[in-house]
Amino acid sequence: PRTQIEPFRIKSVEPIRMTSRAERVQLLEEAKLNVFQLRADDVLIDWLTDSGTGAMSSRQWSAIMLGDESYAGARSFYRLQTVVRTITGMEHFVPTHQGRAAEKVLFTAACKKGELVPNNCHFDTTRANLEYLGVEALDLVIAEGLQPSVAHPFKGNIDLARVEAVLKAEAQRVPFGMITVTNNTGGGQPVSLANIRAYAGLLKQYGKPLIIDICRFAENAMFIKMREPGYEHARITDIVAEMLSYADGCTMSAKKDGMVNIGGFIALRDDRWLDDIRNNLIMMEGFPTYGGLAGRDLEAMAVGLEEGLDEDYLRYRLRTAEYLGEKLDAAGVGFVRPTGGHAVYLDARTVLPHMPVEHYPAWALGNALYLEGGIRGVEVGSVMFGKRLDDGTETFHKMELLRLAFPRRMYTQSHFDYAAEVIAEVKAKAADIRGVRITRQPKFLRHFTAEFAWV
Ligand code: F0G
Repeated sequence: PRTQIEPFRIKSVEPIRMTSRAERVQLLEEAKLNVFQLRADDVLIDWLTDSGTGAMSSRQWSAIMLGDESYAGARSFYRLQTVVRTITGMEHFVPTHQGRAAEKVLFTAACKKGELVPNNCHFDTTRANLEYLGVEALDLVIAEGLQPSVAHPFKGNIDLARVEAVLKAEAQRVPFGMITVTNNTGGGQPVSLANIRAYAGLLKQYGKPLIIDICRFAENAMFIKMREPGYEHARITDIVAEMLSYADGCTMSAKKDGMVNIGGFIALRDDRWLDDIRNNLIMMEGFPTYGGLAGRDLEAMAVGLEEGLDEDYLRYRLRTAEYLGEKLDAAGVGFVRPTGGHAVYLDARTVLPHMPVEHYPAWALGNALYLEGGIRGVEVGSVMFGKRLDDGTETFHKMELLRLAFPRRMYTQSHFDYAAEVIAEVKAKAADIRGVRITRQPKFLRHFTAEFAWV
């Protein structure tokens, strides 16, 4: 097979400021060994997140000029509404400024204190928005979904037996079921159509609606085409239509598969929560025909949603992560298998097997990638999920991962080749990599602002 080329050419470029290793040593010291505290200009390859960081197309930039900035009833709203209705098959469309706003507005309308929402894995903001309302957020991904080295075509699937047990025991507490495609928290892993169909069927038996978190629905659909028997020849739009036919509503962060830098929405099949949603929206986001966005943002999203479903683009998109995975295999670096849609999660223990967890190996690996090659990823390990208790002791996470998440249409194959070289060099010099200790930390979400020193 030939090289999978990027199915676009570059019309507008943004220079990367080159830095030397010596400079990066200094910059990381100034950032207190925390890459979140770096200036983006001091990063060569920024794989912190795929959210809102991608490149828009020339069609999107030209659509921006067509934005109608009317407060109420803007043309851009109707244009986007038509696109969202076509993709989701749902009648009601409510724009929001990003995904977490869609969650907050919907949950405030649809949940009450003491309730419980099952999901494969709740994303951080989804969990936080539910817990803030006193609702329990239950993660029920299949067992394979929590084992990094175990390969499975649909590691994002929800465990139907556990869902059934929850519904049997506590149906009265469940306002609706959720499922996240792809499962970001579990490594960007897809959910099969068979799983969504069966989950929706179970919920229906108990009269419960299904809400899908569709941030990465296009990537999930492409995985279905590539892996689910019977869908090899299906069109992506038909797979998406079937996926959403099982849902009663969805929340979307268009900063992912919507291919925009800002934007989101809620779509709903019927109007059961609509009055409350619109009231919440007006209080929290804006009038229902703009929802916290400018008219030009709505236009860019209308175009981006269609471009995100292009099969050539999706094939290339999934190939980039897989390609990096092959290079990591060759270098003997472990990662969450198979590679996900939007990211590769390095298993730091395979690079730093001797480093004690108290020295935060995944954080140390993140620092090493920055020093060696100016690459920025996100630690998903004991800094993010561990806690310092009041007695000064510490809890640790069960995995030490470093997420490299890829902005859409932004980095070329040579950037990926370079990153693979840097990772292999870091692995070769693993004996020199230093662990860290925390010198200062806030009480919550410590990874964003904590300060560190070398041990
Ligand atoms: N749901 C999922 C599955 C997500 O991955 C995100 C964001 C959200 C909801 C919230 O959307 O950022 O537009 O408010 N994930 C980003 C990430 C931040 O880096 O994985 P948002």
